[in-house]
Amino acid sequence: MRQKLVIGNWKMHGSLAANTALLEGIKAVPARARLAVCAPFPYLAQCQSLLAASNVAWGAQDVSAEARGAFTGEVAASMLAEFGVSYVLVGHSERRSYHGETDATVAAKALRALEFGIVPVVCVGETLAQREAGQTEAVVGRQLGAVLEALSLEQLGQIVLAYEPVWAIGTGKTASSEQAQAVHAFLRGQVAARDAGVAGRMAMLYGGSVKPDNAAELFSMPDIDGGLIGGASLKSDDFLAIGNA
Ligand code: PGA
Repeated sequence: MRQKLVIGNWKMHGSLAANTALLEGIKAVPARARLAVCAPFPYLAQCQSLLAASNVAWGAQDVSAEARGAFTGEVAASMLAEFGVSYVLVGHSERRSYHGETDATVAAKALRALEFGIVPVVCVGETLAQREAGQTEAVVGRQLGAVLEALSLEQLGQIVLAYEPVWAIGTGKTASSEQAQAVHAFLRGQVAARDAGVAGRMAMLYGGSVKPDNAAELFSMPDIDGGLIGGASLKSDDFLAIGNA
């Protein structure tokens, strides 16, 4: 049995005061799933100090593919590691579309995170136009393929995969549990073609308008091991309800 994992993606939201209230609320109640929050870089120290003695893990939303150097504005994996980060999102669709991140860049970021003991949460997903054109499997297969190619089997065994259809992110439109399960099964099959054992152990999260009222059904699907939660991760009650779904 794979343990359920629910990761909050705060995106560019938060303040010191709001985060304190949110984190105190989240850590006060034990959840059935393992919980983590991915915060903006300036708040990682705050997450570390408030969550260190809790069961809630914390992570970042991006990492540089480079180790160090003249890359103004970038943040290195070694720096994230110094703040006790367990997870880092790589290849979120907002990074791919607004910052031009390619499949190769995403794979390089995943490798860099692993080098510093941070679990990369590799995000893949198709746009509405791609889905309507019947290209969903081709798109997510290509996105995952770059990572399958770049990582050793041992490294692959350490990542988390997140399927986030772009059309479901922040739109209130969720993929139906059957739609999500079908893509998850496809993705697990792609990993299994490389190694069945790694595929069987890999946590695969669904993301895109997950809410307390649809989480249980999504998480009951055989290949959906939890969620990557945007909007609903900003309210402790909603996030906890999803963590218990
Ligand atoms: P959402 O975002 O839950 O607000 O749709 C999910 C994500 O982008 O990770």
